[in-house]
Amino acid sequence: EDHQKQKMMLKGKNILISAGPTRESVDPVRFFTNRSTGKMGFALAEAASYMGAEVTLVTGPVNLSLSDSRINRVDVVTAREMEEAMIAHFPSNDITIKAAAVADYRPEHRYDEKMKKHDGHWHVQMERTNDILQTLAEQKTDDQFLVGFAAETEKPIDYGIRKLQKKGLDAIVINDVGAEGAGFEGNTNMVSYVNRQQDVENMSLASKRDIAVRILELIIRDKEDRQR
Ligand code: CTP
Ligand code: CA
Repeated sequence: EDHQKQKMMLKGKNILISAGPTRESVDPVRFFTNRSTGKMGFALAEAASYMGAEVTLVTGPVNLSLSDSRINRVDVVTAREMEEAMIAHFPSNDITIKAAAVADYRPEHRYDEKMKKHDGHWHVQMERTNDILQTLAEQKTDDQFLVGFAAETEKPIDYGIRKLQKKGLDAIVINDVGAEGAGFEGNTNMVSYVNRQQDVENMSLASKRDIAVRILELIIRDKEDRQR
């Protein structure tokens, strides 16, 4: 039966997934973050576990809970914490999927006391965070499969493929965040999956759960192709 087959697809595989935004504080009451609810990453974790994988989910601050108690959930707040958790778990995983919306910049200085308002502007100097995906790509062995996400508002496929190549990924899931019914917050999404050979699979609008299963099926296909 189809469902029984699906439940075996990732048997014996360890999968690492990152989800949600990161949060970068500037003082004890204020922070910078990204528009991400974590739903796509959580859907991937639950689908992977359903398909038989041992799943570790590293997540930034989200309002979600897991229905599957077998998933190992690791909660982090900042990009730096997410980087540490991902680097620690990466070597023991066969497949890693970075669905998180990591902050690209953090305030250079974090005030210990709340900043009081004053007349005029407040200039916050921002510094770059490390690119976690890039770091993982550099540490990747030949047996490991690394998948990134790309959030784009224009020319999604072009920019997505550029990220795939630049970061040396095995595949990328491209999110056209400008499209109707796609991207942040909702329960549906519309994405494209592109592998290293630049085969493009455009998925139609579907639930994040169905998209998650399809993404995992494509990863299995490409990973097995490579081992042949
Ligand atoms: N990513 C990461 N570490 C960062 C920034 C991004 O690991 N500091 C990962 C995301 O988790 C995602 C992928 O990189 O899997 C692409 O993220 P995206 O924001 O679309 O691309 P960037 O490379 O950050 O480029 P830009 O934001 O300028 O489009
Ligand atoms: Ca970014």
